[in-house]
Formats: sequence, C-alpha cells, structure tokens
Amino acid sequence: MACILGLESSCDDTAAALVTSDRQVLAHAVVSQNDAHRPFGGVVPEIAARAHVQILPGLVRDVLRDAGLGIGDVDAIAATAGPGLIGGVMVALLTGKGLALAADKPLIALNHLEGHALSPRLADPDLGFPYLLLLVSGGHCQLLEVLGVGEYRRLATTIDDAAGEAFDKAAKLLGLHFPGGPAIERLAAQGDPSAVPLPRPLVGSGEPHFSFAGLKSAVQRAAAADRHAPADIAASFQQAVIDCLVDRTRLALDRSDSPALVVAGGVAANASVRSALQRLAADRGRRFSVPPGWLCTDNAAMIAWAGAERFGRGMVDDLAAPARARWPL
Ligand code: KG4
Ligand code: ZN
Repeated sequence: MACILGLESSCDDTAAALVTSDRQVLAHAVVSQNDAHRPFGGVVPEIAARAHVQILPGLVRDVLRDAGLGIGDVDAIAATAGPGLIGGVMVALLTGKGLALAADKPLIALNHLEGHALSPRLADPDLGFPYLLLLVSGGHCQLLEVLGVGEYRRLATTIDDAAGEAFDKAAKLLGLHFPGGPAIERLAAQGDPSAVPLPRPLVGSGEPHFSFAGLKSAVQRAAAADRHAPADIAASFQQAVIDCLVDRTRLALDRSDSPALVVAGGVAANASVRSALQRLAADRGRRFSVPPGWLCTDNAAMIAWAGAERFGRGMVDDLAAPARARWPL
C-alpha cells in the first residue's frame, strides 16, 4: 500500500491531502478563499496566488500531523501542475518539488482535470474502466471516455462558457454572492423551474457539444425585466442547465459502449444535477457513479488519489516538469 501527499492550488481553493492506494483518505484540508474574492465577484488571480503561498505550507503540516505521519512516511508527492491560473499552479507544483527534493520522494505533476476524472474511483471501488465522464466544473464542461489512467478520449466540449461559469455569471446577475453554484442551488429550491421561459442552447443538435452563453444573456434579460421573482429565475436557470447537460450526455451515452455514466467536477455537487443524470443512467441501463459533494469541488484528495493511480503504474515525473496554464486532458 502506497501513501500519497496531494497538493492543489490551481484556482481559489488551497488544499492538501494524504490518500492511500487502498482508498483511505488519511487526512484532507481545503481552505477556500471565497471571502477574499467576494468583493470582486470572481477570482482575482494575483490575490489567489498570494493566498496559496501563505496557506499551503501550513496545510501540509496539518494533514501530516492529523495522519500522524512525517514526510518520510509518504511514498510520493502529487501536485497539480495545470491547467489553471498560472501563479496559483506554481505554488502547489513548487511546494511539491521542494518536498520531493528534500525528502527524496518521486514527484507526480498532475493534470487537475485528471484529478476530477479519476476522483469517482476513490469513492467507488467497483468503478472500473471504461466509463463515460461528464466533467462539469467552473472552467470545463466536457464529455470524455475514460479508457484508463492517462487514456482519455474527448467527445465534446463547450463552445463558449463552462457550466459552472454559467452558474457563477447567473448568480452575479441575480445579485448573489460568489461562488454562484451553491447560491443558485439554494435560491432555486424556493422557485418554480417552469416559471421563466429560457433557451436550451444546442439541445437536439447532432454533436454532443455544450453552449451556455445564450442562456446567460436570457437570464440577464429576465433579471432586467423585473417581472419574475429571483427564486423563479434561479430555478428556471438551473433547470435549463440540467436539460442541456442531460440532452447532450444522452447523445454521447447512446454512442458509447461504456457500461457506466460518471459525473465529476464542482457542478456535480448540485443535488438536482446529480439526480437528473442518475435518472438518465437508469433510463439507459448504465451504472451511475458520482463522488460525494466534497470530492466534486476542488480538493487535494482527488489529486492524491490520481497520484496513487499513476504511482501504482510507475508513472512518475521529472523535477523539471513544467507548470501549464492550458493543458487539455
Ligand atoms: O471543480 P471546481 O471546484 O473548480 C474548477 O475546477 O473549476 O468547480 C467550481 C465550479 C464553480 O463554477 C461553482 O459555482 C460550481 O462549480 N459549483 C456548483 C455547485 N457547487 C459548485 N454549481 C452548481 N451547484 C452547486 N451546488
Ligand atoms: Zn476543478
């Protein structure tokens, strides 16, 4: 059994975790910087990078202490190396390199998207390859065939905004606090999802791509018209996003031989999104898997776990591994 230290700092969450190759999360810690970014209505890269520098080393100390381990007990160090805000990415990657160098441990320079993509296998021991993955986060909205560790075939992506980005923008239009996803979900619970007519961009189109920019503009018009209760706009918006996700995923699923449908990324923390996709999987006779909410939004347990998957297959990286702002899976 191997024990992996995971480090994450690619956006506005600073995180460290210790996870074993037999799926034990020995310790994990996440510090969200929501309060620091809230006055700006979104993530400010410079503020995020500076905060990661201040927070991450203390989190490494905390998780080692919580697990009763020293750095010498760890088998490898997995750090997010991209994609993301480059100043932030460099903090986890350099911290990981420093620890790997000092403790003479292998480094795994991880793609953050691979962390999301493999996270369902940490929570679900019976989930084997291949699976069809809907990856819905703040920066990405993709359908992928996950064939194995490091083997991904992208079937579709968004032609404009990511799903989480749409939640964040709609929330801002409704005067809700950042981050928008959880705020919309809470408000939507009090609204009528059929109250406001909103478009379902690309629904019914022949390739399973996504588009959310037109939906955001429609929310903007609905909010400006002042005819609808904010809760009804939130509920109608959330339903429109779900209808898009389900329609596009259905198309991909019908073209896929994968026995399982899997959802990951921050938007997968949304209970209505989860249940709509679960119904789709049941309807199409596929197994369904989604990690618990804390493992959907950014965290370091998914980085440590993806590190464990790579380490177990001898996939380690050189200390010269680059930090990448862009890095498609
Ligand atoms: O995976 P994640 O934490 O970071 C990225 O890698 O992007 O995803 C963050 C995104 C944000 O856009 C946030 O608004 C959205 O996930 N999100 C949600 C919920 N929780 C987080 N969207 C809808 N409902 C939620 N409950
Ligand atoms: Zn993420």
